[in-house]
Amino acid sequence: MKFSITVGSPERQKSGCVVVGLFESNRLSEAAKSVDRAAKGQLTALMRSGDISGRPGSTHWLHRPGGVVADRVLVVGLGKEEAFGPSQFREAVRNAVRAVADSGAADAMFYFAELPVKGQNSEWQAMQLAIGAGEATYRFDRLKSKKEDRKHSVKFGLGMLAKPAPAVARALERGAAVAQGMALAKDLGNLPSNLCTPSYLARQARELARKYRLKCRVLEEKDMRRLGMGALLAVTKGSREASKLIVVEYHGGTTGEKPVVLVGKGITFDTGGISLKPSAEMDEMKYDMSGAGSVLGTVQAVAEMKLPLNLIGIVPSCENMPGGNAIKPGDIVTSMSGQTIEILNTDAEGRLILCDALTYAERYKPAAVVDIATLTGACVIALGHVASGVYANDDELATELLQAGQEAWDRAWHMPLWEDYQEQLKSPFADMANIGGRPAGSVTAACFLSRFTKSYKWAHLDIAGTAWRSGRDKGSTARPVPLLSMFLIRRT
Ligand code: BES
Ligand code: MN
Ligand code: ZN
Repeated sequence: MKFSITVGSPERQKSGCVVVGLFESNRLSEAAKSVDRAAKGQLTALMRSGDISGRPGSTHWLHRPGGVVADRVLVVGLGKEEAFGPSQFREAVRNAVRAVADSGAADAMFYFAELPVKGQNSEWQAMQLAIGAGEATYRFDRLKSKKEDRKHSVKFGLGMLAKPAPAVARALERGAAVAQGMALAKDLGNLPSNLCTPSYLARQARELARKYRLKCRVLEEKDMRRLGMGALLAVTKGSREASKLIVVEYHGGTTGEKPVVLVGKGITFDTGGISLKPSAEMDEMKYDMSGAGSVLGTVQAVAEMKLPLNLIGIVPSCENMPGGNAIKPGDIVTSMSGQTIEILNTDAEGRLILCDALTYAERYKPAAVVDIATLTGACVIALGHVASGVYANDDELATELLQAGQEAWDRAWHMPLWEDYQEQLKSPFADMANIGGRPAGSVTAACFLSRFTKSYKWAHLDIAGTAWRSGRDKGSTARPVPLLSMFLIRRT
């Protein structure tokens, strides 16, 4: 989706649709005032008669109002001006984009980057507009024999009353790149596990590499065996699908510049293994590769933005299945790091594939490593579906991620990684157990990973609660692609 910027009054734009905002208690935005003046007070009259309002979520169409060149004007309710913050802005974008997409307009110009959003500027609003437009028009209907009604694709534009700084155009472009990365992450997340297998993920990574001229390497099981990845290989034992360790490399920085490494959990289906999960909602475990999807989506966004940095994406991928050859509770395996692990619960598999991938990451001498995983149900209990959990062995790195999440409105919350919790992982038979009991389940999972990340700056994002939505409009959210993209933008 490409956005263009046009500078000028909304009433003078030759467009299928001009979109302006209206606050509650009948406060017109600057662009709406301009339309109102040109239309000889038509908006004011409609407000007076109660036909249009600034109620959040409301949208009103005006067809060919006098004095306006565009075919239509869409008036979007913004709620109370005092309360107009990032959430309200994003909600207004979603409603406006949906209304435009459902209309007959072939193109639309949004006067949205000059709205008074609390604590934000035009640059932020432009980026969020592009992201929001991508989100609101995303469909996943490739597996339906009858495609959902899609009238046409709309050409989106950003209208500005005053000439914006160059940073606004760049923000718009970056927002479009992030939206594209999010669409990839959503597609991968929404695809069921019979189609989205480890091999499929590997093919997608190769495809991405071809498109953006990245380096891509896929390690097969024999390669992993040679490297001693006993933890990852233990998880895949019960599955008939071949596991893969996928590596994509983006070199936008100088040679020799230390890369950021992203490691994404790529369990394409998590049955729990021999520690079988209950069957209710087990279908949702197709999303257990959302960490992997967010890594590939972020790599795509970064390549599209041509950010001047080096970025490595690592995706350990397999299924977690029960079977005659599956690992059993009590089994002890040796990880690539040499540390031994007593597998007390085969459903705590994410940390087992991640620990070997994290050891593998050492070879890149990374500036920082961030792993992203739908790791624990306990994180959903702790933070719900609002914030992702952040753990880090470096407070600066944690702060960077938290701030990026705040700015991208893809928020995360700092969780403790205190030594005190490590005790719960003690095993009488091996160097550690793979579970730490019920208390602080998300923390002990992070503690487990921390034992494999001692040689570099590392952070872990538990996205079990944020990567997808359950219920009626279930589906992948593509989080934390916006957070990660912003984190990397801010590093340049
Ligand atoms: N993929 C799950 C975590 C999960 C659960 C994500 C629910 C989203 C929703 C993970 O592999 C898992 O099963 N974790 C176990 C760990 C436990 C056995 C220590 C869990 O959270 O129950
Ligand atoms: Mn599991
Ligand atoms: Zn899992």
